[in-house]
Amino acid sequence: MVTEILQFTDLHLPPAPGGILWGVDPQARLRQVLADARRHHPQARLAILTGDLVHEPDEAAYARLDTLLEEVPWPCWSLPGNHDDATRMREGLSHAPLVERGAVGRWRLYLLDSTVPGEGAGRVGERQLAQLRSWLDQEPETPAVVFLHHHALPVGSPWLDAIMLRDAEAFGALMRDRPQVRAVLWGHTHQAFAGRIGSAMALGTPSTAMQFRSRTSAFALQDEGAGYRWLRLHPDGRLETGVRYVPSSGT
Ligand SMILES: [Fe+2]
Repeated sequence: MVTEILQFTDLHLPPAPGGILWGVDPQARLRQVLADARRHHPQARLAILTGDLVHEPDEAAYARLDTLLEEVPWPCWSLPGNHDDATRMREGLSHAPLVERGAVGRWRLYLLDSTVPGEGAGRVGERQLAQLRSWLDQEPETPAVVFLHHHALPVGSPWLDAIMLRDAEAFGALMRDRPQVRAVLWGHTHQAFAGRIGSAMALGTPSTAMQFRSRTSAFALQDEGAGYRWLRLHPDGRLETGVRYVPSSGT
């Protein structure tokens, strides 16, 4: 049986309800995304939230997110982004626990914490790399997907590539040597991206709030609407994926 999962990233819920960021209301956009995903992907088994769940890591914002997630039909797992506080996420998100690894169907999912306290850039770090290596080597025939917040390949915008994954080389080497990893997925760059790390698809997913214009020397917005990604995991190890943009209703 094919297993469908969803990725939501860079929700950036502001501290106060109705708060505006980049000219939009991220909470209203998240609601639109969740409604769209329920309509178009009712059979999804799981949703992965890949960081920057809130814009400033205060308890109230996580509490509001938890309330929104109470209504969704899929279990949610989360990992932190550079705007998050992992401790507050752990305490405040009863409906989106921080998970390091799990299974759906025949597949293994690995969620990494690539945050570095006080920095926009990311790092997986030796400890997590060793743990991931060990897990992957226990099941070399089992198809796997790896999620993290930071991009592990440059996306062609110098201002974003300055805050990419710092140990992308070591991470990439680990992925390249383990072909059971079918895809590596991230957020952080607020834009769709598709590349390769070895035989794995390397995929960037748009934000549920606002997109950044691709291939620019400086920060620029591009309002394509709120976005999210779906993945279809086949029992034979094939993976299909796509991005969906939700037309904005003016918020
Ligand atoms: Fe973000």
